[in-house]
Amino acid sequence: MKKIAIFGAGRVGESTAQFLAREELAEEIVLVDIFDGVPQGCALDIQESAPMFNFDTIVRGDTDPGIIEGAGIVIITAGKPRKEGMSRSDLLQANMDVVGGLLQHIIKWAPDAILIMVTNPVDVLTYYASKITQWPKNRILGLSGVLDSGRMASFIAEESGFSSKDIDAMVLGGHGDAMVPVPQYTCVHGIPITELLDSETIDRINDRTRKGGAEIIHLKKTSSAYGAPAAAITNMVDAIVHDRRRILPCVAMLDNQYGQQHLCMGVPAILDRTGIAGVVELSLTDSQKQEFEKSAQMIRDDLKSVDLIE
Ligand code: LAC
Repeated sequence: MKKIAIFGAGRVGESTAQFLAREELAEEIVLVDIFDGVPQGCALDIQESAPMFNFDTIVRGDTDPGIIEGAGIVIITAGKPRKEGMSRSDLLQANMDVVGGLLQHIIKWAPDAILIMVTNPVDVLTYYASKITQWPKNRILGLSGVLDSGRMASFIAEESGFSSKDIDAMVLGGHGDAMVPVPQYTCVHGIPITELLDSETIDRINDRTRKGGAEIIHLKKTSSAYGAPAAAITNMVDAIVHDRRRILPCVAMLDNQYGQQHLCMGVPAILDRTGIAGVVELSLTDSQKQEFEKSAQMIRDDLKSVDLIE
């Protein structure tokens, strides 16, 4: 890919730029931020790591959104992060204002891009991006499940002692406290964790997964997570750039899947060079269906609160 653009040179944006450059996922990575000097400085710092990490990717930063011209993938990380005690929904109005402005630049400078929303509340803002751009639904997705599943997998590794390399977790629903970990599709080398761990342990892992982002904020106090979020974005970008057809849980616009319509939330998505090539429908237990519906209702409530739906 020629160019990948990242809006927001905060911790998530900067780490993402570093990982994407390191993996040489584009010839050029551009970082945009409103604070003059910040994107330029971040870009230069990353560029100076090229001799040590052996990459030829060019990294540039600017306050001018025109720098994103022609980008094949645009990643939005700009906006306020959560502080302790806040829910992701508490950020809605402020981050909608930020994202609304950026979408106009993206429509102008990178109209054919695949857009990856990272800014929270991600399910609502992915929907917002879809409404404003009017782009086909395959080209708009959001970060949630890869991060939440990664957290779940690392907790399983910690509890069980099994290698993280063998663990594939599945977390669906909104990227919030009502997310839906799905143990019967969470496997250690193909073996569902329901065969390997007792239900108390699984409940504990599910609960910790739901609160995974808050746990980091609570520990760090002055920052929310960025290492695992940036790694998760890198997985998604890699699947798109290399046309891998990976099944990764992402925020996608639903069109009658999982009983939902005109709503963006986390589901297993097939990622290839076109973005979301399809959504995989899993059979869930009755209680998981109810949890999914509850999560959907919370997203709908947020959408209503800012008049995005009636
Ligand atoms: C988290 C943010 C990205 O879960 O929502 O850490």
